[in-house]
Amino acid sequence: MAKLPIRQYPHPTLAAKAEVVTVFDDELRKLAEDMAETMYAAPGVGLAANQVGVLKRIVVIDVSEDKSDLIVLVNPLILSTGGELVDHEEGCLSLKGLYEHLKRPSKVKVRAQNLEGAELDIEAEGLLAICLQHEIDHLDGTVFIDHLSRLKKTRACTKLAKLRREEKREKDKKADE
Ligand code: NI
Repeated sequence: MAKLPIRQYPHPTLAAKAEVVTVFDDELRKLAEDMAETMYAAPGVGLAANQVGVLKRIVVIDVSEDKSDLIVLVNPLILSTGGELVDHEEGCLSLKGLYEHLKRPSKVKVRAQNLEGAELDIEAEGLLAICLQHEIDHLDGTVFIDHLSRLKKTRACTKLAKLRREEKREKDKKADE
């Protein structure tokens, strides 16, 4: 397994539409393993292939407390959403350090394939429902701040730029020591 570099916003693969997976081979399994390792190391609860620069429709998710419930979804599709719109704070490994309030449906039904190509259906609510929507968005080139109003998105980008400047300053300081 290998940890992959996570592309940071606004890297072009984050805005690109990923392609449908048609070949279920060792290469795909290796990608899923590497993505899982990358997600756990980050640490994060989900990762889409776009975020590691691969334009294939595959996501890995684990919202369990003890990181024991890895879900790998190939070609996931949202069949329906329901429930109430829940206000929550969302973040993303490709927009490191940025958290914004967002509203999303609390329930979701997803159809996907596993690494062998077999079809599976998932009905989710809570954090998993949010995470599924967030990761499937990535496959269509959408990041979570794209759901904000134009004004709020501009503010979020300014905040992100500031976070990165601070991070760089810290790094430079450490290098000088
Ligand atoms: Ni994300």
